Amino acid sequence: MTSSAISARLSPSASPRLITLASTVVKAGETARASLKRRRVTEMVSKAPRDYQTEIDVTVERIIVDQMVQAFPAYSIKGEEDVGNRVADENAPVIYIDPIDGTTNFAWGIPHFGMTIAIAEAGTIVAGVVYDPMLDELFSAELGGGAYLNGERIVCVHNADIENVVVGAGLPVPGQVKAVPEAVYFDALKRLMANTAGVRRLGSAALSIAYVASGRLDGFFEDGLSMHDYGAAALLVTEAGGRVSAFNGGPVTANGDILAGNMSLHPWLVEGLEGERG
Ligand code: IPD
Ligand code: CA
Repeated sequence: MTSSAISARLSPSASPRLITLASTVVKAGETARASLKRRRVTEMVSKAPRDYQTEIDVTVERIIVDQMVQAFPAYSIKGEEDVGNRVADENAPVIYIDPIDGTTNFAWGIPHFGMTIAIAEAGTIVAGVVYDPMLDELFSAELGGGAYLNGERIVCVHNADIENVVVGAGLPVPGQVKAVPEAVYFDALKRLMANTAGVRRLGSAALSIAYVASGRLDGFFEDGLSMHDYGAAALLVTEAGGRVSAFNGGPVTANGDILAGNMSLHPWLVEGLEGERG
């Protein structure tokens, strides 16, 4: 895809840096899309129980790392699969890469997964892209520049009519929930089931959070995420006028408990994760 075709899918004021992230993620996505099929557990590497890596996670990360090294030779790189991680100068911007977010979906042949790249400067995400190669949907944002989906500005839908919201949430594997007692997390899920129009576990945290930015979901929460998964998507939400916090409503920490929501719904979601404190 030419650089002008990519630019047409971003903000009119997109920086050359964002254009590079976008063209890279779209190119990487072609490889993943063409390789989608059901894999057997014996065909994958288990990084930990229920945490998989396919050969395509590594191939896609290699494609992204090669482009990043060429375009940003002085930046640090932190990729989920550690294909080309490096620390440049300690003050250098950091590139976060998740080559396939939703690896379990991908490995089972379920066509919902994404690739995402974010750039952080002094600990703040300043640019990010999330790409769904199956739907050819490119989400992008730069700090202060708004959030976009395939060239259209996106905004959160400010809906706090609880009966008529749809909320995404991670269904945790054992040990994943650490920010609150597991019972509190499960009660928060039950509260969603009892009160909202529906709960969705889509299988890619990056895409689910991007869906909050585009109003397809009213909120989302999951514990144990890493910057690779949520960094770019969190910027999308804040640039789309929504809120991203830790479960307690405070600033996001390295713990990886992430709660994203439209501004009106966010407080209700925080309340649901308060448990005994509430
Ligand atoms: C995973 C996906 C999934 C979420 C997991 C993440 P990965 O990322 O975002 O939706 O439930 O917690 O680890 O491992 O496929 O990059
Ligand atoms: Ca991944």
